[in-house]
Amino acid sequence: MRRMLIAGNWKMNLTANEARAVIAALRAEIDRDAAALARDRDVMIAPPAVIIPAASQALAGSSIALGAQNMHFEDKGAFTGEVSAPMLKGFGVTHVIVGHSERRHVFGETDELINRKVIAALRHGMVPILCVGETQEEHDGGRTAEVVLAQLQNGLAGVDQAQGDRIVVAYEPVWAIGTGRTATPELAENVHGAIRESLRAQMGPEKADSVRILYGGSVTADNVDSLVSKPNIDGALVGGASLKADSFARIVRAKAR
Ligand code: 13P
Repeated sequence: MRRMLIAGNWKMNLTANEARAVIAALRAEIDRDAAALARDRDVMIAPPAVIIPAASQALAGSSIALGAQNMHFEDKGAFTGEVSAPMLKGFGVTHVIVGHSERRHVFGETDELINRKVIAALRHGMVPILCVGETQEEHDGGRTAEVVLAQLQNGLAGVDQAQGDRIVVAYEPVWAIGTGRTATPELAENVHGAIRESLRAQMGPEKADSVRILYGGSVTADNVDSLVSKPNIDGALVGGASLKADSFARIVRAKAR
């Protein structure tokens, strides 16, 4: 049985002071149920890189894991503006979002670059959350499976099969991100099922069946239950609704599967 993962991607939001306040409120909501929640789910938040030290301090002793939104694939060197896995790990970062659609479409990240980041995360014992998803145009053109499975296969190229189950995949249709237009649970489950099949071919059924596949794109407390009720939807990657403690805490309490 796969554990759910409810992950918050803060994107470029919240100053250090705001982040401390949100984390304190979130801990007040979540930590008191920590034992019950820990039975079947993990919770993670990914603040902007510069906020990670403050977040790390504010999360001390909490069951909430700390994630990064991006990282470079090298450990150090002449890469102005970048941060590396060892730097993040120094603050207790355990997860890293890789290949988010905003990284792909606004900053031009390619499958090849994203693949190097996935491999770097695994090399450092971090959990890469590999994001895949089609644009509105690709969706309308009936190319969803083709686009998503190519991103998946290219993103995971050369990954050691033995480490396959450490990966998390997030299906985030670009047309659903920040638009309020959530994919229906049926549509999402369809894509998640295709991702699962592709993972089975790539890493064998046993590893593939323990990979968690999250849905992202306008997830709210009102739609999370119906999404995670589907067999291949193992949690959520939440943007806007993760910025406020009460709405994120309600998502974290999604109905058990
Ligand atoms: P929203 O939840 O704001 O649609 O963002 C989704 C997302 O991109 C999470 O990574």
